[in-house]
Amino acid sequence: MIGIFDSGLGGLTVVNAIMKQLPGYDLLYFGDTARTPYGTKSKETVIGYSFENTDFLIKKGAEIIIIACNTASSVATRRLTEKYDIPIFEVITPAVEDALTVSGKRRIGIIGTRATVNSNIYKKKIQAKDPDARVYSNACPLLVSLVEEGWLKKPETRMIVKKYLHPLKGGQIDTLILGCTHYPLLKDIIQQKIGKRVKIIDSSLSVAAQIKEFIKKNPEIDGLLSKGGKASFFVSDITDQFTKTAKKILKKDIHLEHVVQ
Ligand code: DGL
Repeated sequence: MIGIFDSGLGGLTVVNAIMKQLPGYDLLYFGDTARTPYGTKSKETVIGYSFENTDFLIKKGAEIIIIACNTASSVATRRLTEKYDIPIFEVITPAVEDALTVSGKRRIGIIGTRATVNSNIYKKKIQAKDPDARVYSNACPLLVSLVEEGWLKKPETRMIVKKYLHPLKGGQIDTLILGCTHYPLLKDIIQQKIGKRVKIIDSSLSVAAQIKEFIKKNPEIDGLLSKGGKASFFVSDITDQFTKTAKKILKKDIHLEHVVQ
């Protein structure tokens, strides 16, 4: 099975993308709703949580792991790949590759949580591939809460997005990476505020395309993955609001199973 974890329910944007790219593959999702958000926590804390989430998914039968959370991808990937000998995917590298493919001016913007932006990982990965690329980033801590409140089209949200994007506009970027699970849900507003000429890279779509390619090239891994079209969703805490958020992101009712790790 394909195991996917996130700090909460935002990672369902990655589930959406995987379901489109790899329909029929069985999925296991774990959302750490009891300990969300990760974006405001320290690196060591997020690494510890990421180990526990990965252990849980492997115990449930995952043969590959996708770290849907940008924050956990930023700070925990190396530690996870050192510990586990199954394929582990993160959302940063495929988004960086897509950004470098489409950016003509090599002026790339990143938005994400504070932990992701402070880790500087996007900048390091972009400049490792193109040292001349200019990278502009801004942490947008309020956007996760606005999405979770369902304020997807409110004037207040538009105003806040505009304010967060202002410094990136100053950098005259031609490409913007949505470096957080929740931001694809604000894609239209972000596109409006950054300008229609700026290409937007949605890391959930980038990672899904990368995994599809990987599976095609690795038939032995493909052989391990079950394909009954089943998806199971586990969370570490459950409230009515979580159920509503999950429905909003997946655009259908799902059963969230509460587990205590
Ligand atoms: N999943 C997180 C990310 O993509 C956003 C929510 C959080 O801070 O936990 O960075």
